[in-house]
Amino acid sequence: MKITVVGAGNVGATCANVIAHKELANEVVVLDIKEGVAEGKSLDILQTGPINLYDTKMIGVTNDYSKTANSEVVIITSGLPRKPGMSRDDLIATNAGIVKSVTENIIKHSPNTIIIVVSNPLDVMTYCAYLTAKIPADRVFGMAGILDTARYRTFLADAIGCSVKDIQAVLMGGHGDTMVPLPRYTTVAGIPVTELIAADKLNAILDRTKKGGGELVNLMGTSAWYAPGAAAAQMAEAIVRDQKRIFPCCAYLTGQYGLKDIYLGVPVKLGKKGIEQIIELKLNAEEQALLNSSAVAVKETMDVLDGMNVLVK
Ligand code: NAI
Ligand code: 2OP
Repeated sequence: MKITVVGAGNVGATCANVIAHKELANEVVVLDIKEGVAEGKSLDILQTGPINLYDTKMIGVTNDYSKTANSEVVIITSGLPRKPGMSRDDLIATNAGIVKSVTENIIKHSPNTIIIVVSNPLDVMTYCAYLTAKIPADRVFGMAGILDTARYRTFLADAIGCSVKDIQAVLMGGHGDTMVPLPRYTTVAGIPVTELIAADKLNAILDRTKKGGGELVNLMGTSAWYAPGAAAAQMAEAIVRDQKRIFPCCAYLTGQYGLKDIYLGVPVKLGKKGIEQIIELKLNAEEQALLNSSAVAVKETMDVLDGMNVLVK
């Protein structure tokens, strides 16, 4: 079993570290364009093996895609991160070029792989990888919902004074300010969250969740990496262990929720074939309207990408 992580920056290195620690693959390849960075970080991760007691083989390479050959899963984290004052959409031009060239190289060496995209703007970069890879959409999808729900669950657990382990939640839509948290589908050990927290506090948490990425960008001057890296690794785990876990992921819609030809966050079942099912919740009118607005925002960015001629369809 081989997993490749493209981009040895903050998110990529963190993700590779979690994958190695959990022994999700015998071999983890980390690839970056910057000379020596992937080699150095892979060696550093490898040297945590004797401390954390795992023996995952780590291979760091500078742009040598031959070493990624026959990867079962590839996680794409290459691209610029957000800086203060930037939206995720500001990254589109640069990151689309990067994601396109990375995907071409990956597919050349691993035609049967499953691709998890992390680079921002997430929904549109996942679409970019899909158009480039020319493989079925159940093998190209993006990570955002696990991160966004993790933030939501963290804030809720803190406000309620309970363990994050007991909070179950789902969230839909694009990875941005238009994301759609769903309190109606949020429970604390099976108890509807609305029975445990006042409406005004819950609304403040929903708002903080939507701006959760920006909160960290403002604090650190760049975007987050521990939770994003762990979230992408959790998706890889569901795939390589065929766990059939249900997570919100950025998936290609072909009519579900009345939406099609768009990548958007929805609950899916993840297993060894990738997305094995898109789960359709019975949204009420208000939830559906919010999802539709989020889809409009994502479509607008997809149109920007289409207009840039980065991709030849
Ligand atoms: P970073 O700057 O720390 O790392 C990016 C790495 O990509 C760098 O090491 C760079 O050399 C490498 N790279 C650039 N072009 C490349 C190419 N053509 N081939 C291979 N490697 C290349 O950035 P960070 O913080 O790791 O973020 C990575 C991406 O993930 C950003 O676009 C960021 O916005 C996104 N992100 C997405 C999240 C999500 O929820 N989907 C959450 C957090 C970050
Ligand atoms: C995040 O949500 C910026 O997408 C990045 O942390």
